[in-house]
Amino acid sequence: MTDNRSPLTIPDLLQMKARGERIVTLTCYDALFARLLDASGVDILLVGDSVNQVLAAAETTLSATLEQMLYHTRLVRRGSERALVICDMPFLTYQVSKEEAIRNCGRVLAETGCHGVKLEGGRPVVETVRALADVGIPVMGHLGLTPQSVHAIGGYRVQGRDARGAERLLDDAKALADAGAFAVVLELIPAPLASQITKALPIPTIGIGAGPACDGQVLVLHDMLGLNEGFNPKFLKRYAALAEDVREAVKLFAAEVREGRYPGPEHSVAK
Ligand code: KIV
Repeated sequence: MTDNRSPLTIPDLLQMKARGERIVTLTCYDALFARLLDASGVDILLVGDSVNQVLAAAETTLSATLEQMLYHTRLVRRGSERALVICDMPFLTYQVSKEEAIRNCGRVLAETGCHGVKLEGGRPVVETVRALADVGIPVMGHLGLTPQSVHAIGGYRVQGRDARGAERLLDDAKALADAGAFAVVLELIPAPLASQITKALPIPTIGIGAGPACDGQVLVLHDMLGLNEGFNPKFLKRYAALAEDVREAVKLFAAEVREGRYPGPEHSVAK
């Protein structure tokens, strides 16, 4: 096992893959949760652009902004000591040109103290990934269901089901690794395909809805804690039921306030 106290580095992830040590990843958007997750031994805190849906109640990730991601990534970095912090680059901050991508990703690294960035897509972003890696910006790829392309792919659905789609994903994954990506997220693809990609790549794969063979797994924190009750995909396992706990706690507080039972003498100053 990797030492729980010394800060992880990007090269450590390659060694974890080589040792068959699974990489534990969760999304994180603030310092309070970052402290909890870091102390619990999570390896990667991914500041996903899903923050736009999970905390800001937007319909898609498309309207997430660079300022929003800078803010949340700073908070997560402030709350973490050991975990790697990776910032999801929002839509149109890396697709327009390599120069703009370097400027925006460089800004994220310099202004937040995070360790790397994540970009969505295959072939169209490969040369951008190479340019970023060449200037020393660690890049995580993201293939399969890429939520920033939700309208182009016709919804949040499993990718790579047919032979051509599967072949394209395998080629894209190899091209990203060859361009210098340090890891790649595989989202919502068949488990056998994720296994094939994981075996073919020299870099770790981090799966979400991609079966058990990936080198690591990621879930959206608020989903796995049971805070987001309306979201029920097949791959999601809930490890807590915090929405229910919150409702119960708030109802109890409201009842005690209304009945004059809170604050009691033990919560008050006599003189
Ligand atoms: O934005 C996000 O939370 C993500 C993960 C689900 C991989 O990209």
